[in-house]
Amino acid sequence: MAFDIEMIEKVYATMAERVDKARELVGRPLTLSEKILYSHLWEKMPTQAFTRGKDYVDFAPDRVACQDATAQMALLQFMHAGKKTVAVPTTVHCDHLIQAKVGADADLSRAKSQSSEVFDFLSSVSNKYGIGFWKPGSGIIHQIVLENYAFPGGMMIGTDSHTVNAGGLGMLAIGVGGADAVDVMSGMGWELKFPKLIGVKLTGKLNGWTAPKDVILKVADILTVKGGTGAIVEYFGEGAESMSCTGKGTICNMGAEIGATTSTFGYDDSMRRYLNATDRQDVVKAADKVADYLTADAAVYADPEQYFDQLIEINLSELEPHINGPFTPDRGTPVSKMKEEAAANGWPVKIEWGLIGSCTNSSYEDMSRAASIVEQAVAHGISPKAEFGINPGSEQIRYTIERDGIISTFEKMGTKVFTNACGPCIGQWDRAGAEKEEKNTIVHSFNRNFSKRADGNPNTHAFVTSPEMVAALAISGRLDFNPLTDSLLNDKGEEVKLNPPKGEELPSKGFDVEDAGFQAPAADGSSVDVVVSESSDRLQLLAPFEPWDGKNITNAKLLIKAFGKCTTDHISMAGPWLRFRGHLDNISNNMLIGAVNAYNQETNKVKNQLTGAYDAVPAVARAYKAAGVPSIVVGDHNYGEGSSREHAAMEPRFLGVEAVLVKSFARIHETNLKKQGMLGLTFANEADYDKIQENDTINFLDLTEFAPGKPLAIEFVHEDGSKDVILANHTYNEGQIEWFKAGSALNLIAAGKA
Ligand code: F3S
Repeated sequence: MAFDIEMIEKVYATMAERVDKARELVGRPLTLSEKILYSHLWEKMPTQAFTRGKDYVDFAPDRVACQDATAQMALLQFMHAGKKTVAVPTTVHCDHLIQAKVGADADLSRAKSQSSEVFDFLSSVSNKYGIGFWKPGSGIIHQIVLENYAFPGGMMIGTDSHTVNAGGLGMLAIGVGGADAVDVMSGMGWELKFPKLIGVKLTGKLNGWTAPKDVILKVADILTVKGGTGAIVEYFGEGAESMSCTGKGTICNMGAEIGATTSTFGYDDSMRRYLNATDRQDVVKAADKVADYLTADAAVYADPEQYFDQLIEINLSELEPHINGPFTPDRGTPVSKMKEEAAANGWPVKIEWGLIGSCTNSSYEDMSRAASIVEQAVAHGISPKAEFGINPGSEQIRYTIERDGIISTFEKMGTKVFTNACGPCIGQWDRAGAEKEEKNTIVHSFNRNFSKRADGNPNTHAFVTSPEMVAALAISGRLDFNPLTDSLLNDKGEEVKLNPPKGEELPSKGFDVEDAGFQAPAADGSSVDVVVSESSDRLQLLAPFEPWDGKNITNAKLLIKAFGKCTTDHISMAGPWLRFRGHLDNISNNMLIGAVNAYNQETNKVKNQLTGAYDAVPAVARAYKAAGVPSIVVGDHNYGEGSSREHAAMEPRFLGVEAVLVKSFARIHETNLKKQGMLGLTFANEADYDKIQENDTINFLDLTEFAPGKPLAIEFVHEDGSKDVILANHTYNEGQIEWFKAGSALNLIAAGKA
């Protein structure tokens, strides 16, 4: 599990030269985000200044992290790259597939038996390819990354949107889809649109009941769930420096909730303290030598408006605790306003559950501050009015808080201690009575509170707040309780006012753990077998997609002309389908089942031209594939928006779809189609969308001359024998055309040509 100090020293060794060069090219002082970006260019030394929000740039991340749900398909694909080991340090974390129900031990052993084939696969594939494997029960991916791998000035990607958490240690850490992770693990560059920059200046100091969580709850309230899109949020100022490193992690973590590419903080003493406490004195030593490069140039923070695209200022001394929600994390309510807001909106004020944990808020500091509230309640004889559950962020934290009596404090109030895992945060919560779908309120310290997220009940009003506020609210049992002004009644009927939380940023006796749950990979994995049972319905080894046969695609059938919005969720639904993420054949049964058929305005009902009958989209695609008939999909604007889920491109490819022709693409999906060896095309003339008829047969006329910048001509033969030839644009460059020819980008990598 040891962090890779050599890799970190290598990053630092070239940082000064690269950043100095970038400053010269850009012609002005640089922000921290720019320093990290320019020192991680795929081309190594900067040769030009990039335009924020415009230029697409290839980067060379230092690390990759994958969680168990997304790692399955990423690693199945990586196995095809033909590499002996991953090209950059990589870890896999088993945290999403563990349901919270009874308590840590029972829940963990149930998960291990239910998902044993997935865990065994991830363990063996990690062992074979030099990947660090964190077993079920070891903790939540982002907490473990912060404890072990994050380092100031580094860049990492992870197949989870809250990878951004590592910004708490001064990294640029970005959540991506599996296909991007496969590229980097295979030794390729990783492309990102050069982000815009939002500066957040923190003045004053947190005090009383206010916690780092309130900073991001406030920022979310200001920027909304879309306000950070395409931008890096860089925090700075005296308020930032006065905050703990894990608190910074909380703030960066929820940058995902405002749509930000990532968030980060400059290297400071809190990071030194955290690195030392987690046994990484070597990183401190190395970082101290390049400290000037691990924060913005002084001129930037002195006059931030000049250097950021947007600037926000928050005075921490005046910041109130916030309670955000329900149903969206950007609906912010300061605690003093909750009484009137709850009444005005009819939110149930009785709290049923308080939950502390998730990658957002499960640090030692979080647990100790929340426990200080619980301790007061116990000491004063106050019985909690709501149920209470915690998920420690890692085994290291769980072990340490048990040693320090924090767990026993929680248990005195009947708190359920769940596994060190995501649990209720990802809907892995078998909550008694949730199926009745009753209107109710819960408070938690997680990051997301969308409808149904925690317990599947659309009527659960979930509110996000800090761990210490969760403790106070759960003890009071009321959403409109304000611990700053209100008192509670103890069991003798006496009024008790809770004191503000107290906690330790880091354990005074140091962290401790008996078995952190880490499995180091084999030094030479070449003889390790990756076993996937042929009868498994959750995992399936991938076969390489067929290369292009060099001929025009002819006699293709229209599978569906999708009408209106067609996101990656419409193309590859989530929910119950998540269990098939490692089984391409099974998950393909959800292909395009959410898309609206333009001819009948219905979902999952398209015409099978071979029989004339209407059937589900996957069934019709399978019928065409079985008959050796290629198919194409036609779509509307912004086709494939949403997530970077590679399944949305792999499923059509697997079921014989050869081309997707749309009015416009969401860029990531377009790239994913290219990577899987498909044709992602756009109408040269959007009105041609209307010319396409339900019974069309489709012939490509000049695919044999496929070249960058040259539109393709496609003939649509209608049922009555008439024809329309339309032009389709594309954005393939030479290299991407080679992906198409090889059958996929991975095929090309495996052939050693990429
Ligand atoms: Fe897990 Fe929830 Fe974080 S699902 S990774 S704890 S956002």
